[in-house]
Amino acid sequence: MAKQEDIFKNVVSHAKEYGFIFPSSEVYDGLSAVYDYAQNGVELKKNIREYWWKSMVQMNENIVGLDAAILMHPTTWKASGHVDAFNDPLIDNKDSKKRYRADTLVEDYCKKLEDKAKKEIDKAKARFGDAFNEEEFVTTNARVVEYLGKKKEILSRLAKGMTDDLQDVKALIEELGIADPETGSKNWTDVKQFNLMFGTKLGASAESAMDLYLRPETAQGIFVNFLNVQKSGRMKVPFGIAQTGKAFRNEIVARQFIFRMREFEQMEMQFFVRPGEEMKWYHHWKDTRLKWHLSLGLGKENYRFHDHEKLAHYANAAADIEFNFPFGFKELEGIHSRTDFDLKAHEKYSGRKLQYFDAELNENYVPYVVETSVGLDRMFLAVFATSLQEETLEDGSTRTVLKLPAVLAPTKAAVLPLVKKDGLPEVSRKIIEDLKWDFNVAYDEKDAVGRRYRRQDALGTPFCITVDHQTLEDETVTIRHRDTMKQDRVKITELRGIIENEVSMKNWLMKM
Ligand code: GAP
Repeated sequence: MAKQEDIFKNVVSHAKEYGFIFPSSEVYDGLSAVYDYAQNGVELKKNIREYWWKSMVQMNENIVGLDAAILMHPTTWKASGHVDAFNDPLIDNKDSKKRYRADTLVEDYCKKLEDKAKKEIDKAKARFGDAFNEEEFVTTNARVVEYLGKKKEILSRLAKGMTDDLQDVKALIEELGIADPETGSKNWTDVKQFNLMFGTKLGASAESAMDLYLRPETAQGIFVNFLNVQKSGRMKVPFGIAQTGKAFRNEIVARQFIFRMREFEQMEMQFFVRPGEEMKWYHHWKDTRLKWHLSLGLGKENYRFHDHEKLAHYANAAADIEFNFPFGFKELEGIHSRTDFDLKAHEKYSGRKLQYFDAELNENYVPYVVETSVGLDRMFLAVFATSLQEETLEDGSTRTVLKLPAVLAPTKAAVLPLVKKDGLPEVSRKIIEDLKWDFNVAYDEKDAVGRRYRRQDALGTPFCITVDHQTLEDETVTIRHRDTMKQDRVKITELRGIIENEVSMKNWLMKM
């Protein structure tokens, strides 16, 4: 079996080779954690965005869309808490000049303690077999008790240091003898808070310019427009506002390809509800969002919930939908019950009322909010990495196939004349002229037809339509299915229906 690391490398190189994702400004050696979506990537990304938009906005009478500007009044970020609290605690190594998240260094140390405990448990399990009582062993074995106890103590000191005094976090790092993972040096600077927002300026002259931020989440554009949308759309609580768009974070540990980027896209929906009803809606959206993911058919086993124990100051419940990426289970989407924190904060900082008059209750209130927030780039990575497969065929040969959900595939069908003569290209072009109004279709006449099939497999195209000499006689073609490689002879007039049946969003979303 291929190693996780190799699978991931393969994903990155396939994305580049087949025109899905390029490193940004590659001619200048790229820009760290910034990527460009290429000719096929942009289509796949657009289709994921549409699949989300259709299920959230078009299918729900009480959810409407919004496209707020990336640049917002700077007080927005004071109110939301991002100016004061959207920080990572950083520490530099004086010798290596490398920068790390101080909390991650301590957490990695604790992970090692946990691994040691697990090793002891596994050893005992193997020794005692069925008679092994893990619960008892964990509380009585001296070494396991020591490892886990130490871990607990360190994490609680870390949490205290993070809120009270970052000097204590540095002292903890020194006391534990934590070294630079790359060089082994223990020569550390103090720990400093580093704000993740990118700053920019508005205005022509240096004196009059106003400091702005590139938004770190799309959600605040929704909050500040809450009353505009509610009034102009005559929306009744409960209702939602959905938005997709770019967000920017100056991530320090930006690794893992498009998983953690500095410029990325979010698909967020804020659902405004009556105070006291937020838990009902929180569970509803947790459930609905998981069903949306499952409708794409990437495998139930690849998803799990992670319910947060430690909640952000504005939340009274939160969970992540985690996905099994090539580097393990990681957050794909967040579902948060954000209480009335954001709207109340904007009321306070703007001096304007952001309240809703509930005619049924005959009262004014600031609604509570349940948020669903999924990263479009992470969705792309989840879909792309899971779909990329190496298959061994019956004759022993192998093929690389990108088994994208057909509804998301960049190109739905490729039309291939068997040979470049005898009028076959002309018939192929006619088929394309007819289908292109409804589907993204491609024409390919280069190389032997078998190689063209393989190329379309690697691009994730669900259908290849081959025009041959029989087509000239009876207006039939062969249609080849990507996943089964099965070929059927069908009438040209049947093509639209066959493709539509496999790629229509309706058929896919009905699986929810
Ligand atoms: N409005 C809530 C919010 O922004 P978040 O958990 O910080 O919550 C939501 O982000 C989602 O955005 C994440 O689940 C992830 O999919 C995506 N995301 C966050 N940071 C990202 C980054 N640096 N690169 C790519 N996607 C990111």
